Amino acid sequence: MQFHYANSTEILFGQGQIAHLGQMIKPNSKVLVMYGGGSIKRNGVYDQLKQALNGYQWQEFAGVEPNPTKETLDKAVAQVKTAGIDFILAVGGGSVIDGAKYVAAAACYNGDGWDILTRKYKINAAIPLGAVLTLPATGSESNSGAVITKAETHDKLSFLSPFVQPVFAVMDPDTMKTLPERQLINGIVDAWVHICEQYLTKPIGYMVQDGYAEALLKNLLALGAQFAERDNDLWRSNLMWTANQALNGLIGAGVEQDWSTHAMGHELTALYGVDHARSLAIIQPSLLRNQLMFKQGKLEQMGRNVFHLAEGDDLALRTIDAIEAFYHRLGVATVLTADDRQGQTKTDAIDAVMAQLKKHGLNAMGENHAITPDASRAILTAAIAS
Ligand code: NZQ
Ligand code: ZN
Repeated sequence: MQFHYANSTEILFGQGQIAHLGQMIKPNSKVLVMYGGGSIKRNGVYDQLKQALNGYQWQEFAGVEPNPTKETLDKAVAQVKTAGIDFILAVGGGSVIDGAKYVAAAACYNGDGWDILTRKYKINAAIPLGAVLTLPATGSESNSGAVITKAETHDKLSFLSPFVQPVFAVMDPDTMKTLPERQLINGIVDAWVHICEQYLTKPIGYMVQDGYAEALLKNLLALGAQFAERDNDLWRSNLMWTANQALNGLIGAGVEQDWSTHAMGHELTALYGVDHARSLAIIQPSLLRNQLMFKQGKLEQMGRNVFHLAEGDDLALRTIDAIEAFYHRLGVATVLTADDRQGQTKTDAIDAVMAQLKKHGLNAMGENHAITPDASRAILTAAIAS
């Protein structure tokens, strides 16, 4: 077992924590508050921020969209440069936090920020940032990753850099009270798949990583089962903390990972605007069935320890069925429907996604590099409805 592990983000968890923001940002900072389409104005978070930032020099950048685009974010980059901003506060879900990470890094670079996503530029500095989380799902509030879209070309790509790890994350479960049901469900599904991407590879017996991953999966199963009781402080707290722990680096330390469901899902979002979490539910069951020979051991372990399924030769397959049934119980579809793709034929949709995968060099995905173009085509054939 070999790894380096650090998670430097200071977490302020619980009701009322937004009031402590002032202790986290240096007094003379020039702060840019970034947020999305305005949910924070409707749920009181903006007013709490205003109070907490009293005495600070701050300005705002509104309108970061879900699946944030470089086209929008470049306007914030210009604002940061012109105004001499030296701290960015992201207030929202994964999209706003990811967007702030892009802005923080691109503002310290003289070229086109998209060079970060194409690896033409390697980040060597960023403006420090903090996050106020309002949607538990991505874990972006305490990790170093971000996913950005170039609307012009339908490219949705990710980057990782320690320079954009948030300095702190405020996680007040009360902010979730206004979340639409759809976004709560998205949060459960996204966090679930994050755990799977780090867990469903090879059985190598890392007891801490496996055991903690299984505990988090069981939490999400339970929170899904208790969905009717979701208007409850404890339910909200448990989801917020579980989704955070699912992608803060701990369960992924030293283990092989397979982010191919995310890679393929991102193409569905870039082409058809499918919500991130829903794109994952569409791809994952078909991908797991396709890769069964490689993932059998870990699927069996998950079947036993998470779903408590009976032993048998078909345990791995029954585990995939159980994952799919979990999505269905939440009302999440596991195929891309004709409606999702605005009537495009199945063949055209498969070809369109295949072309995107090729363009992005995704021709040997998975921990065994076994998701070749042939495998991708088979996965898409199963995942895209007629
Ligand atoms: O824009 P506003 O008005 O704030 O509305 C948002 C948005 O429409 C709304 N919302 C957020 N908090 C709310 C709320 N509405 C009411 N009350 C609240 N408290 O929810 C909508 C969706 O928000 P978004 O931030 O897009 O959702 P999510 O957190 O699921 O983020 C998805 C993005 O994160 C990326 C995804 O690819 C996608 O672009 N990911 C980032 C990761 C990372 N950085 O580690 C990993 C993930 O796998 C994921 O890829
Ligand atoms: Zn995700």
